[in-house]
Amino acid sequence: MTDIKIKIESLYKIFGNKPASVLQHVHDGMSKADLLEKHGHVLGLKDINVDIPARGISVIMGLSGSGKSTLIRHINRLIEPTAGKVIIDDQDVLAMNKKQLGDFRRHKASMVFQKFGLHVHKTVAENVAYGLVIQGIALKEAKKQSQKWLDRVGLAGFEEHYPSQLSGGMQQRVGLARALATDAEILLMDEAFSALDPLIRTDMQDVLLDLQTELHKTIVFITHDLDEALRIGDNIAILRDGAVIQQGEPQNIIINPADDYIFDFVKDINRGRVLQVKTLMSTGTGISGPDIVEKTVLEDALQVIANADTKAANIVDEGGNTVGSITLEQVVKGLARPDVETNPESRYR
Ligand SMILES: Nc1ncnc2c1ncn2[C@@H]1O[C@H](COP(=O)(O)OP(=O)(O)OP(=O)(O)O)[C@@H](O)[C@H]1O
Ligand SMILES: [Mg+2]
Repeated sequence: MTDIKIKIESLYKIFGNKPASVLQHVHDGMSKADLLEKHGHVLGLKDINVDIPARGISVIMGLSGSGKSTLIRHINRLIEPTAGKVIIDDQDVLAMNKKQLGDFRRHKASMVFQKFGLHVHKTVAENVAYGLVIQGIALKEAKKQSQKWLDRVGLAGFEEHYPSQLSGGMQQRVGLARALATDAEILLMDEAFSALDPLIRTDMQDVLLDLQTELHKTIVFITHDLDEALRIGDNIAILRDGAVIQQGEPQNIIINPADDYIFDFVKDINRGRVLQVKTLMSTGTGISGPDIVEKTVLEDALQVIANADTKAANIVDEGGNTVGSITLEQVVKGLARPDVETNPESRYR
């Protein structure tokens, strides 16, 4: 069973003068637009239930204003909920007193910000050491401890530079190193790579993925970008108007979008390069035919299968054990977009 690190339960956030007084309207199903128009309150989050597994990268997606930042900020209680619970390692974040919360933020959950959030008058080394300094470690020792993280993100040699002397990508490396230096188990990344150029952004994704194979942090990563979500996310939750519309494994969301809103997110992705044969295969016994590994993407599988006499392939796991089979027809079907119009669950217009 997956080990759950962060449990968000029935979480509601309403912004305005008297949030509690309008909560019942939200329970009764009032829309975000009506709540604003009739009662002057903004629905930030509505009945959020999300389990964030330990040691994985959980992505939160959604259009601007859908509630992503509001949600991630509840995890370290930068925002107080109107109702609901946030449980981390069996500890109720909302029950923490000021000191416990301070310790939690300094030691357990680090944030990486979209605009980097660096101290402009501090050097790179001082910025990275900062998280340790606020833990009470002397600057000299903090710098010594954080040097390894500077090295890991590729900033060796830039210790005495100031943020303004660095490119955006390098500044965010400082932000990442600072978050890692505190040894926090949880990294909260709110559009951390969104301000970067596409190539630099891909570089940073690689840096993060590379570090993650070794560090196994619990990472909550917000992005607008589905390609980024697919590249780094072990699971994805998609928000609209403060509610989670769909969550689960990225592959499953692509082949089975819950409604038109989700379909709009997934419709333009390159299915051939993203979907893996294991998502579409018939499980169980194999067939005689070429072997392909379960993580093979459809585009590559198509090459093999189209050229095979059997027009089908045997699917094996990384250990070489047969886990199922896939036919040319299944691959072709997987390459085509699902027809959301026929989905009775479709709620979005
Ligand atoms: N302090 C606040 N006071 C009032 N309304 C707020 C406040 N913070 C957020 N909101 C509202 O809550 C909703 C969710 O905002 P949030 O910032 O979480 O969205 P987001 O998904 O992070 O958007 P973006 O992609 O633009 O960063 C929006 O309607 C926003 O206007
Ligand atoms: Mg935001």
